[in-house]
Amino acid sequence: MYGGFIYNLYVSLCAMTALVTGVAGFIGFHLAKRLISSGVNVVGFDNINTYYDIDLKLSRLKHLENISKVSSGKYSFVKGALEDYQTLNQVFKKYDINNVVNLAAQAGVRYSIENPMAYIQSNLVGFGNILEACRYNRIQHLVYASSSSVYGGNTKMPFSETDGVDHPISMYAATKKSNELMAHSYSHLYELPTTGLRFFTVYGPWGRPDMALFLFTKSIIEGKPIDVFNNGKMIRDFTYIDDIIESMVRVIDKPPTKSNSFDLKTLNPSESWSPFRVFNIGNANPINLMSYIKSIEECLSKKAIINYLPMQPGDVTATSADTHLLEEWINFKPNTSINKGIEQFIEWFVNFYSYKNIL
Ligand SMILES: NC(=O)c1ccc[n+]([C@@H]2O[C@H](COP(=O)([O-])OP(=O)(O)OC[C@H]3O[C@@H](n4cnc5c(N)ncnc54)[C@H](O)[C@@H]3O)[C@@H](O)[C@H]2O)c1
Repeated sequence: MYGGFIYNLYVSLCAMTALVTGVAGFIGFHLAKRLISSGVNVVGFDNINTYYDIDLKLSRLKHLENISKVSSGKYSFVKGALEDYQTLNQVFKKYDINNVVNLAAQAGVRYSIENPMAYIQSNLVGFGNILEACRYNRIQHLVYASSSSVYGGNTKMPFSETDGVDHPISMYAATKKSNELMAHSYSHLYELPTTGLRFFTVYGPWGRPDMALFLFTKSIIEGKPIDVFNNGKMIRDFTYIDDIIESMVRVIDKPPTKSNSFDLKTLNPSESWSPFRVFNIGNANPINLMSYIKSIEECLSKKAIINYLPMQPGDVTATSADTHLLEEWINFKPNTSINKGIEQFIEWFVNFYSYKNIL
């Protein structure tokens, strides 16, 4: 039965050309890699912005090119910005796109406090353009990145898609919640099937230099102090990249359909009468930040020098995902342990940045 599911997934994915925006980014790179290797044609799109080290983004793109040489899926890359509708629309037309996965966005909670306009441009104007291009090019399924940040000031744990999320505490979160609302209007008006994925702290090889695992690992190796906010009293639902990608591949292949049984009295925010869904995509196994740091120390066989700091504005103290809706939808549950995930990251990190001799 499981084999049949994989075969059907393979057959339906192979028939498609997918646009993956944000392909030079952490999640987009891993998704494109998996799709190309499974025989899917991928068109990657990214403006390669300078939010973090461009060399890492270019290395990811180089890696994708190399993989495409030995894969059955074709791969093309277009450098462009979501805000540039003309270029974006030309890509849809030229490559005859069937499915779109929008991962391009200005990411990061902390930077949104410094530069909210970057989020308005990429995440609101840019996402509006994605929706328009999907509408006019009869896209079969738009999958887009939302975030656990939408839960904002919520304290009820675990976070469920059925909870209200109307109290964002950063502009980043506000743009991600807005994307869900914008997508709903297109699902309703133009019957565009859309699935929003609320990612919970994704980590793994080729990860982002602005995120905790990368920063901690680098500083511990170099003997520098690490900044730990809220005096370490933080809980995160860390989710390993391979689990994210497996879930995404299954989600892409299952566009939501209109629901006649949608309950208009309870108005469950996760679904709709329109072809619209929103899911948490997390590990459902939150851990304490200090335990996470301990695992990194054990893996590196080196102690961290910790610089305890107060809570940062815009940050939340805890995230915890209720993932049963997604598990029911795609019949998959993340299964990578934290220790295994950290080990995989560190193995990549020390090779990629030539830290092997220092350890
Ligand atoms: N990594 C996580 O833990 C996490 C958690 C929650 C949500 N998300 C969301 O998932 C998506 C992917 O995240 P990631 O970790 O891979 O981030 P990333 O920053 O590594 O990747 C985003 C990519 O998009 C590109 N980009 C940004 N703005 C663009 C624009 N206007 N036009 C074209 N390209 C643009 C960037 O150059 C970058 O390569 C983002 O939408 C992010 O907000 C990620």
